[in-house]
Amino acid sequence: MRKLEDGNPSRKYQKFALIIGVTGIVGNSLAEILPLHDTPEGPWKVYGVARRPRPSWNDDYPIDYIQCDVSDPEQTQSKLSTLTDLTHLFYVTWANCETESENCDINGKMFTNVLNAVIPNAPNLQHICLQTGRKHYIGSLEAIMAKKFVHDPPFHEDLPRLDSPNFYYTLEDILFKEVEKKEGLTWSIHRPGVIFGFSPNSMMNILLGLCAYASICKHEGQPLTFPGTKEAWNSFTDASDADLIAEHQIWAAVDPIAKNEAFNISNGDVFKWKHLWKILAEQFEVENGGFREDGEKKSLGEMMKDKGGVWDEIVKEKGLLVNKLEEVGKWWFVDVVLSNEGMLDIMNKSKEHGFLGFRNTKSCFVSWIDKIKCSKIVP
Ligand SMILES: NC(=O)c1ccc[n+]([C@@H]2O[C@H](COP(=O)([O-])OP(=O)(O)OC[C@H]3O[C@@H](n4cnc5c(N)ncnc54)[C@H](OP(=O)(O)O)[C@@H]3O)[C@@H](O)[C@H]2O)c1
Repeated sequence: MRKLEDGNPSRKYQKFALIIGVTGIVGNSLAEILPLHDTPEGPWKVYGVARRPRPSWNDDYPIDYIQCDVSDPEQTQSKLSTLTDLTHLFYVTWANCETESENCDINGKMFTNVLNAVIPNAPNLQHICLQTGRKHYIGSLEAIMAKKFVHDPPFHEDLPRLDSPNFYYTLEDILFKEVEKKEGLTWSIHRPGVIFGFSPNSMMNILLGLCAYASICKHEGQPLTFPGTKEAWNSFTDASDADLIAEHQIWAAVDPIAKNEAFNISNGDVFKWKHLWKILAEQFEVENGGFREDGEKKSLGEMMKDKGGVWDEIVKEKGLLVNKLEEVGKWWFVDVVLSNEGMLDIMNKSKEHGFLGFRNTKSCFVSWIDKIKCSKIVP
């Protein structure tokens, strides 16, 4: 068990972090790891931002929680410009709109608002970690839905940008421009694939959706059938553990060799959904229905659209924390992931720069499910 910050007021922190998106899938891992004694250059003093009130599953971490909507420039300026001791910024948030050009616009504004509040007011600011993702190589959600793929996986960091709108490129360009304004300020960009993690406040938490689906199958005495395609069921794919991504960002934040570089970040092994599906069924003690060739194919979104009442029954019976099914099940995201063949990346660049972290995906799949169950998000 790692030790928490000892609470001694005379203790001097070496590093002061601001996490934008502190209740998100990676933000929550950063909030847990940064204040620990054995974290590189830790314990860190941590400020964390999100819009909603602080959730109970996040409030054990010794951080200063700031409720702020970073899409609002005045609010961002008034709440973040006072954090004059910051040395590091971890940007792990985003907004999701109908079209990619809207995504470019709103995400660009959010990031600019934060940088405008922090860079001129934090004289010791040293480094900015920006989290984007594998859509850098695959294309926006629009391109994924249209199955228009240009680059051939496995993806490496030197591949050229795609010739289509992508809010990750907007964020990168803002970052490159803004760091120029402060001498010595460095950056790193982190590109995970599908993230396995905990947060119920995430806009894309595939595990939470799968756990909710499995709980509903169990409650209704139905087998757990795979809602995706045969390609997704059979192909090799990979995942990025949320704690591993947090460790990767902290490594890049403190190690000079990682400065001003973009890195892929994935677990370093591969899996097939048909193998994880068996584990999912075991974890919820439900019959593994596997992939069905016969019968009408329905997306998970369609299968779950009338299940709100079933979820209400489960919540009441088991005393769960999250009341609304739509809060736990981001079905659109599960459907996107499970309808495409896996597209792998390569971790060589991180390894060559000295980051040797990895995860066993099957083990982390089980441990995140355990955490989601223990926190009473699912039964
Ligand atoms: N999740 C994945 O599987 C995945 C995979 C690859 C790449 N990525 C990329 O990673 C990046 C970060 O996404 P994520 O999935 O880590 O985030 P996330 O889990 O959806 O979390 C978003 C966080 O930001 C907060 N937030 C949202 N809008 C805000 C606003 N206007 N002002 C202040 N806080 C706000 C949310 O809390 P409130 O809602 O309470 O404000 C939450 O804490 C994105 O670019 C995403 O595309 C994600």
